Amino acid sequence: MEQFIMKGGKPLCGEVVISGAKNAALGIIAGSLLTDDDIIIDNLPDVRDINVMLEALKEIGASVNRVNRHQVIVNAANVQSVSIDDEYIRKIRASYYFIGALLGKYQKANVPLPGGCAIGSRPIDQHIKGFRALGTTVDIKNGCVVAEASEGLKASHIYLDVVSVGATINIMLAACLAEGRTIIENVAKEPHIVDVANFLNSMGANIKGAGTDTIRIKGVKKLHGTEYAVIPDQIEAGTFMCMAAATRGDILIKNVIPKHLESITAKLLEMGNTIYEYDEAVRVIGNQFQRATDVKTLPYPGFPTDMQPQISVTLALASGTSVVTESIFENRFKYVDELARMGSNIKVEGNVSVIDGVDHFTGASVNALDLRAGAAMVIAGLAADGITTVNEIGYIQRGYEHLEKKLQALGASIELVDSERDAQKFRMNAG
Ligand code: UD1
Repeated sequence: MEQFIMKGGKPLCGEVVISGAKNAALGIIAGSLLTDDDIIIDNLPDVRDINVMLEALKEIGASVNRVNRHQVIVNAANVQSVSIDDEYIRKIRASYYFIGALLGKYQKANVPLPGGCAIGSRPIDQHIKGFRALGTTVDIKNGCVVAEASEGLKASHIYLDVVSVGATINIMLAACLAEGRTIIENVAKEPHIVDVANFLNSMGANIKGAGTDTIRIKGVKKLHGTEYAVIPDQIEAGTFMCMAAATRGDILIKNVIPKHLESITAKLLEMGNTIYEYDEAVRVIGNQFQRATDVKTLPYPGFPTDMQPQISVTLALASGTSVVTESIFENRFKYVDELARMGSNIKVEGNVSVIDGVDHFTGASVNALDLRAGAAMVIAGLAADGITTVNEIGYIQRGYEHLEKKLQALGASIELVDSERDAQKFRMNAG
């Protein structure tokens, strides 16, 4: 029963270094299956989803040498199976990237339908549409996606009906070894799409247009080994930006690409915070008086759905009424009931929340309902008066590297505890 326990109400000040992007690294790890040569991945985040993904690679016969917390060498020359075990897929949604990668390399894949955070219905019809267009037969049998391109993968012209990060990366993984020129239209443009494309190109793929609406891929016969550093995590950085704002602190957030943070920066500025941008850092000064503003989640370069809970908590402590529209995942407001326990005033109608800002939160025992909702609860606890415990933190550890340590370095009074005795000790010490 690991929990975060914290005494809030203190501005967070200092410096924090952002880890590698989880969602980019997940695609890159799957992509390392596409060659028999060594793949060296640097700036890997040390988070649970990544470790699960690497375990799944080992399970099918790849060699995985974790040189240190942030570097791994993968070699897929001895992969013996194209079937991924159910256990791994249930833990993380991104294991669907194994379908694209296994198809690309072996023209076959047998992968259970994905799990992941329960933030709404998460179909993979667009992934399947793409694989079929590349000449693959795809069936769903006993809860698994069974895909085979018995005559090899053939390039195609694919139009995605919805802008999907997962489908874009998955089709890219398969198509870079397909015969001919593939065009994928209406693709997602998130920074991690560009990162996975850059990684594949460094292996000898020929992918153009990543980061625009149309990706063009000229299939190559073979990919080779590479050493590649994952980009910094946009969402981890955004979470610390909200922490600075919500606690009225002053944080220099290092190892970021400020361009990737523009939509978050824009909203925090509208609220009255002060932000300085540097080449690879941003400094956020949380002003005492912050104003309400409206937010709508959209595919990149719009405001990320993965930042919606964190900005909502921040808005819940600003003066006035904010309207937040969630247009990507319909079930992403469940944390609102948890936040209410701390004194927030938020009403949800369908995919819209109306947030009436309050002066302060008070500490409570709350649950992390999913990865980003969990991060939002931590922000709330750090800003709240008194003691907050956040339960179910396994969700948070899926995507945030040593969050409690990074927060302690910013002056937060927070501990990761795994017994009531330790929680009690924290309460006594915190006074
Ligand atoms: C990825 C991210 C997740 C982020 C999301 C949106 C990873 C591992 N996860 O998730 O953190 O919240 O992008 O930025 O990178 N859809 C379909 N059919 C499909 C695929 C998606 O209808 O085949 C819909 C989804 O229900 C959703 C929207 O498209 O409404 C966007 O989903 P998508 O971009 O695919 O999200 P994920 O790749 O699952």
